Amino acid sequence: MARAQEKVAIVDFGSQYTQLIARRVRELGVFSEIHAPNLSIEELSEYDGIILSGGPASVFEEGAPSIGKEVFSLGIPILGICYGMQLMAHLLGGKVSPAPEREYGGAVLTVDRAQGIFSGLRTTKGYRVWMSHGDRVEELPPGFEVFGHTANSPYAAMGDPNRRLYALQFHPEVAHTEIGREVLANFLFEVCRLQGGWNMRAFVERAVEEIRETARDGKVICALSGGVDSSVTAILVQRAVGERLTCIFVDNGLLRKGERERVERVLGRRFHLDLRVVDAAKLFLERLKGVVDPEEKRRRIGNLFIEVFEKEARRIGDVRYLAQGTLYPDVIESTSCRGPSATIKSHHNVGGLPEKMDLELIEPLRELFKDEVREVGKELGLPEEILKRQPFPGPGLAVRIIGEVTEERLRILREADAIVEEEMRREGWYERVWQSFAVLLPAKTVGVMGDRRTYENVIALRVVQSLDGMTADWVKLPYSLLERLSQRIVNEVSGVNRVVYDISTKPPSTIEWE
Ligand code: XMP
Repeated sequence: MARAQEKVAIVDFGSQYTQLIARRVRELGVFSEIHAPNLSIEELSEYDGIILSGGPASVFEEGAPSIGKEVFSLGIPILGICYGMQLMAHLLGGKVSPAPEREYGGAVLTVDRAQGIFSGLRTTKGYRVWMSHGDRVEELPPGFEVFGHTANSPYAAMGDPNRRLYALQFHPEVAHTEIGREVLANFLFEVCRLQGGWNMRAFVERAVEEIRETARDGKVICALSGGVDSSVTAILVQRAVGERLTCIFVDNGLLRKGERERVERVLGRRFHLDLRVVDAAKLFLERLKGVVDPEEKRRRIGNLFIEVFEKEARRIGDVRYLAQGTLYPDVIESTSCRGPSATIKSHHNVGGLPEKMDLELIEPLRELFKDEVREVGKELGLPEEILKRQPFPGPGLAVRIIGEVTEERLRILREADAIVEEEMRREGWYERVWQSFAVLLPAKTVGVMGDRRTYENVIALRVVQSLDGMTADWVKLPYSLLERLSQRIVNEVSGVNRVVYDISTKPPSTIEWE
């Protein structure tokens, strides 16, 4: 029983790495939750361990995020990382000052005490760690001892083993810190004395229980797109509330070839989801007529989606909850107090609908990364054709047709896209990349086919590798595959006489072209 309840709170001070901390803790088999610093002491006291994240602020700044000092007297083990360390030192009577030089990048840590968080490490060996800070601890708070130092940080790690308070100037959660995993494991298992063993099955059980508790009566609706996130969300909710869930699939006419049929077959028939398919292709095309501005396109598609979805939802009646597959990168904005992570846009929210229809949100995946969602899906028995599906933007093919969206241009792009998917799969590349797709350009170029001069469309290929969509690199596909893609698209898709390959990284480019 105690096992199932083990949980660690991660207090987010705005670091771009906060989600990574959560993920590392989960990888070590302990359930973790991310919270904003304003969580009450009563709520915090329910956790078995607390991690204070890094963040871009300085403890001296006015309005710098903080936490009630009482947290350090709860008797719960606490690990401060970077800003979390400075805050701990600052609040407990140590001295923090701006470092003589900002430290960013690799440093070598010497362990001074191989115990507690450094249990099992060696004092005679230097360890590569990753630093990113402007301030540093100059004087330890009373009761603390130095646990490690680097050339530039005399107190790169500090701890008070009696109170089980520890702090690190470096980031254990990033891959560049070679002992990161050991240090976090030490915190969880040596210092907090947790047992671990949490896994995706436990996640599913807990999520289902939570959904059941939230959605006690009334109906739940879910906008199903056929992607991994919404499919996993729908199945979880179905497990929790059964027939009280209705899924709405809006066919906006901007889908990939065969997409609607796949959703009906797998999620409707095989998983028995109560699925309502709304055929709105004509409406969307009308609304997009003459529109070329990318933002205007997205706005119109988003608004119409809500209109269509709302109309269908009202038909169902007694709807109280909206389930959606929001993932961690989508929610950073609302949980972070500030920092670079605050600029990431939210893609999934069925904008404005919850307020308008007075619906409560159910977002069981909000703490997970994409690959973790895939693991949950596997646990739920979802087939690979959904689990391994590449991400596809909500506004669909419309944002891959540069310029006006027309029925004819949709046909061209849909056919080219299907060839890209087929060839990528055939060569085993589809699942090795983050996304691979075609883009239809608003330019015609001259070509020659047979003996005739042609003046037709250009397709750009975009194939990228990425961990979370936030940054991306273009993939160095074999020339033979590129050649085949080009040949097949030009030969088989009428209206195309040229194929080009996009070799831009994100940043500064984005993955989608609009
Ligand atoms: P960008 O183009 O911003 O895309 O580099 C990053 C990732 O997000 C996907 N994307 C979207 N997903 N609704 C979505 O559900 C959208 O409006 C949307 N726009 C972009 C994109 O495919 C990539 O994986």
